[in-house]
Amino acid sequence: MTGVSAQRILLVIGGGIAAYKALELIRRLRERSYVVRAVMTAAARHFVTPLSVTSLTGTKVYDDLFAVSDEATMGHIELSRDADLLVVAPATADLLAKMARGHADDLASTLLLATDKKILVAPAMNVRMWLASPTQRNVATLREDGVLFVGPEDGDMACGEHGPGRMSEPAAILGAIEAALRGETRIPLPQHLAPGRRLAGRRVVVTSGPTHEPIDPVRYIGNRSSGKQGHAIALAAAEAGAEVVLVSGPVALQDPAGVSTIRVETAQEMLAAVEAALPADAFVSVAAVADWRPAAPAPEKLKKGRGTAPALTLVETPDILAKVAARPSGRPALVVGFAAETENLLDHARSKLARKGCDMIIANDVGAAGSVMGLDANEVTLLTPGSAETWPRMSKSEVAHRLVERLADMLDRLDHER
Ligand code: C5P
Repeated sequence: MTGVSAQRILLVIGGGIAAYKALELIRRLRERSYVVRAVMTAAARHFVTPLSVTSLTGTKVYDDLFAVSDEATMGHIELSRDADLLVVAPATADLLAKMARGHADDLASTLLLATDKKILVAPAMNVRMWLASPTQRNVATLREDGVLFVGPEDGDMACGEHGPGRMSEPAAILGAIEAALRGETRIPLPQHLAPGRRLAGRRVVVTSGPTHEPIDPVRYIGNRSSGKQGHAIALAAAEAGAEVVLVSGPVALQDPAGVSTIRVETAQEMLAAVEAALPADAFVSVAAVADWRPAAPAPEKLKKGRGTAPALTLVETPDILAKVAARPSGRPALVVGFAAETENLLDHARSKLARKGCDMIIANDVGAAGSVMGLDANEVTLLTPGSAETWPRMSKSEVAHRLVERLADMLDRLDHER
């Protein structure tokens, strides 16, 4: 026996085909002397019977919000407060949505809302449901609320599809439960994780594209950034298993698959969206954020014809990268910036690295000779406080994949040093 005896787990079993794995999880928890109380949603009863659950937990199964006899013995608030940890396995898309919105229309959702304890969820659903924007938004909200996640894994699904959405195996969930009870907020990656998914379990926030700073309702100050490099990085990070939030300025690109994309116009909106997407393990600031904006955008379209051009007074926009890098708490472990320069590339990029307080700057020459804006290829130099490395010219997608590998190396090293 390795667990701490008498620690109490409240297990919420959601309605999905993976519910059968919850039985195995209960068995393993009981072997380690945990006290397990189980709550089943109405849908869960279609997949496993309350009798199997109660036989394994050795206690009654709770499933009714309004059961008078339960209220007499243990009210629903007490049921969730009595536990050391709440575990939701399988966590269906519907249950995650209810949790994210704070619904309390059955016993499971009420307990999850009423608790003052940590919650660990093991999502299980069809790959498309997992990748759907509403689910990804709910996952992001729950993470911000401090909910811990284990999985989902990549693999073949009961519905015949393949991709992320399989519930983690009971052994991995058990590992995550023990880590959560130790107070760890980073749940260890399952050992059998497929190679290549180096960012699984990580959260990455990427900015991309230009910003548009309004002069009047129809005119703006902008730049030539296409968003291709930032979008490619967001997609590559998602393919490597990260949960990715992409905050994009106005671009003519599709939202990348498997990424939560938030569209903004101005630098101020981009800053607000980035701050709302934190905390994260890495922040990659690829956007070509306008450095200045008109101080007072005109409420109506400016008219010509008075013989003089209007004078534009500009003020500085917030420096999103510098602000994220300087966060006193909740600074991502890795803060990466881009430096698009037309001259003295490396000198400017190196001083930017220091001035903005980031961990790495990726410099690219956007001058006439090495023009990259809007093209599919890029030539970059990676600068850290102690190193400079120039990569040969390659596609933006290849830069993205190589960069994601590098981010994974750096994050693994940081974990190791901690
Ligand atoms: O200062 P400069 O615009 O050249 O810096 C480039 C880096 O800083 C990029 O990573 C860009 O996304 C970021 N940046 C920012 N907010 C600004 C200006 C630049 O995040 N207002």
